[in-house]
Amino acid sequence: MLIETERPGCVLRPWHERDQPGLVAIANNVKIWRNLTDLFPHPYTEADADAWIALAREADRSVHLAIEVEDQVAGGIGALAGSGVSIATADFGYWLGEPYWGRGLATAAARALAGVLMAQRRFARLQAPVFAGNAASMRVLEKAGFVREGVLRQSVTKDGALMDSVMYARTAT
Ligand SMILES: CC(C)(COP(=O)(O)OP(=O)(O)OC[C@H]1O[C@@H](n2cnc3c(N)ncnc32)[C@H](O)[C@@H]1OP(=O)(O)O)[C@@H](O)C(=O)NCCC(=O)NCCS
Repeated sequence: MLIETERPGCVLRPWHERDQPGLVAIANNVKIWRNLTDLFPHPYTEADADAWIALAREADRSVHLAIEVEDQVAGGIGALAGSGVSIATADFGYWLGEPYWGRGLATAAARALAGVLMAQRRFARLQAPVFAGNAASMRVLEKAGFVREGVLRQSVTKDGALMDSVMYARTAT
């Protein structure tokens, strides 16, 4: 799956084994880890990058893509498919390496992937529980057509601290 975004030079494409060094270089950052689930490790080692790339390439119903900016790996974006009663739901997530922040790239990537997944009717619901205080990500989701549904009180323990998260979702209808 190759997805063009509204930003020239920014595309979403499958992960490749050769992305390992570039992935480690941008992912090994506590400022990114602090805002993501523990699926994203810290420190971020070469072995972590290898494991992630293998998992991403094997994904079946889930979608895990690299965000590429001017031919460099700049981050990741994806939709983790639910199961059981949540079969039509996917957890939507993304991150960018710090040098790429503040340029509208996450917004472009989120709009592009959410738009394609909704058009494909691949999931009925894309949801993103954003950790309290992550205003930039909440703004990204709003600009990508997600609706703020409510506060999940004391739902997250990160870096030893208990905090709220805010549920955002975009539905097919
Ligand atoms: C969150 C993240 C993806 C944002 O990426 P980005 O490319 O810098 O985001 P964009 O430039 O597309 O948009 C950010 C928006 O948030 C706004 N913003 C940034 N910091 C903000 C703050 N502290 N308070 C309020 N708004 C803020 C920007 O002004 C922009 O909105 P605008 O276009 O209306 O001005 C990036 O910082 C990141 O990877 N963080 C770590 C991982 C993470 O948080 N992932 C999301 C988990 S839910």
